[in-house]
Amino acid sequence: MAVKSILVTGGLGFIGSHTCVTLAQAGFRLAIVDNLSNAKRSVLDRIRALAQGEIDFHEADIRDRPALDRAIGRAAVDAVIHFAGLKAVGESVEKPLLYYDNNVGGTVTLMQAMAAAGVRRMVFSSSATVYGEPIRLPITEDHPLRPQSPYGQTKLIVEQMLADEARADDRFRYAALRYFNPIGAHPSGGLGEDPNGIPNNLLPFVSQVATGLRPAVRVFGQDYDTHDGTGVRDYIHVMDLAAGHLAALRFLEAANASVTVNLGTGNGYSVLDVIRAYERASGRPIPVDMSPRRPGDVASCYAAPALAAERLGWRAQFGIDEMCRDAWAWARKNSGS
Ligand code: NAD
Ligand code: UD1
Repeated sequence: MAVKSILVTGGLGFIGSHTCVTLAQAGFRLAIVDNLSNAKRSVLDRIRALAQGEIDFHEADIRDRPALDRAIGRAAVDAVIHFAGLKAVGESVEKPLLYYDNNVGGTVTLMQAMAAAGVRRMVFSSSATVYGEPIRLPITEDHPLRPQSPYGQTKLIVEQMLADEARADDRFRYAALRYFNPIGAHPSGGLGEDPNGIPNNLLPFVSQVATGLRPAVRVFGQDYDTHDGTGVRDYIHVMDLAAGHLAALRFLEAANASVTVNLGTGNGYSVLDVIRAYERASGRPIPVDMSPRRPGDVASCYAAPALAAERLGWRAQFGIDEMCRDAWAWARKNSGS
């Protein structure tokens, strides 16, 4: 089937907004549903400025079935890309019911609305967090699934819901994409990551040190079993992720199957590698504050990316220098520094 009109939940968020630009430029008509719980309305103008496509916006919650029915009906949707969700691991430990309600309950409502409208294609934002602590590296898709937080559990439950729905309805197809560590920004500097409050994740924190908003990056742990003692992760450029979603949509158009794949580069970089790359990109020194390990962190986590290459024909194109270059262009433009 030809997929032309896409409902994008959470389309004003970090990954969703970049993906919307890529999809609109590829000729898809988009209808975004976002409740603005972690996004600013102005992101819509930024998306529209970068992509001249047809982009409709509904300020709505995915748990609001009538609103979903309206959005799906009005756009005559062929497929859904489902980014909407809460994603803070620590918060999910404190407020598990909020996470189950939003991420699992919201997806049940979304899938019910899709079924009622006969929409049988979904691309879902899963996460490497479904693997839990790696028992072997690089992580292949058949690695045991043992998420360590309520957030991770919600991702795994939705993957299972998708598999069950595909078993129950043989016309239903999905792509579950397990992202590793998305960073970077649109190369124009017109879109990027804009977290509320003090960033939990490394890259937004480094950006805020580079722009002078914070004095130093706390490096959590220097005694891990890695090449320099600091934690190693598989950072992936958000534009590569956006291209991964386009590849997943093409797969769902053409193949008579569903797919669950890692989206990572396969390369692991340490905290200090990232900080050095950011210094090169920005030409600014990034002071560090050697700090104790952060509870719950693992030494190393990186993907085996071969299955996505084989099934989707997708490979990450950008390296750590391009990720830091684009993150810096966005940070500089938006901090006034
Ligand atoms: P984000 O918070 O920037 O984007 C999520 C968007 O969904 C936000 O715009 C938010 O307002 C919206 N939203 C949340 N709950 C909603 C609801 N009930 N109804 C409607 N809109 C709702 O996050 P992101 O980094 O762009 O992540 C997108 C997806 O990818 C999430 O599902 C996240 O769990 C997953 N993911 C993210 C990462 C990461 O590191 N950023 C890694 C793996 C997986
Ligand atoms: C976290 C989430 C994961 C999510 C991912 C991307 C946890 C346990 N996991 O992964 O579910 O998919 O973010 O959003 O929260 N670091 C510092 N100083 C900082 C911040 C981070 O040294 O100020 C280090 C961490 O110890 C880690 C690396 O940088 O080694 C990356 O951290 P982070 O960006 O938070 O991502 P993850 O912990 O991999």
